[in-house]
Amino acid sequence: MLQIAIIVGSTRQHRLADRVAQWVERAARDMEGWHVTVLDLKDMQLPLYHDETLPAAMHGTYANEKVAAWSHAINKAEAFLILSPEYNHSVPAPLKNALDWLYPEWADKPAGIIGYSSSPIGGARAIEHLRTILGTLGVATVKTALTIGRAQDVISEDGVCKDDTLNSVLRTEFDQVDAWGKAFSCLHTEK
Ligand SMILES: Cc1cc2nc3c(=O)[nH]c(=O)nc-3n(C[C@H](O)[C@H](O)[C@H](O)COP(=O)(O)O)c2cc1C
Repeated sequence: MLQIAIIVGSTRQHRLADRVAQWVERAARDMEGWHVTVLDLKDMQLPLYHDETLPAAMHGTYANEKVAAWSHAINKAEAFLILSPEYNHSVPAPLKNALDWLYPEWADKPAGIIGYSSSPIGGARAIEHLRTILGTLGVATVKTALTIGRAQDVISEDGVCKDDTLNSVLRTEFDQVDAWGKAFSCLHTEK
């Protein structure tokens, strides 16, 4: 089974992320050969990055138990689906913070980004920033990145999306993550 982690990048109360995450999780659980885990940054409660030692020099050991749990979860994953809203034309701070905390855990794994926002932009600018950040961490982002504009209008509160194009593009993105996830799996020794 390919270990897929869905990372929910918003920590707000009453967030749009809840409906996007339900929709993505349900579709991901329908994928054959995927074992899906949801990593919700709201639950992870990571501290703001403050460590004296650079993440690249931590070798995966962390004194803070929440960071250690985050490290363990990311280590276990073989591929990511990253849900990101757009805040001020970029990545939300909690997501950037969660990415910054770790280093070797990310390497040589693929990711599909699912961007969304309440405006028609659909997180497009956040997605491009995320691609750069993830590339620095050794995460390869697949070509397709879904942009969900006016997410409040296209996904219901219980995570149902009736837009055929969005459902079809999501499936295309999943197939790309699946192909790269399988291809990259020979690079990981730790699970
Ligand atoms: C701090 C902040 C900055 C925002 N900046 C943008 C933006 O640059 N572009 C955009 O399309 N929406 C922007 N929005 C609106 C978000 O798309 C909207 O609040 C959405 O619900 C965020 O997702 P979330 O509820 O899952 O956190 C911003 C929202 C916040 C809270």
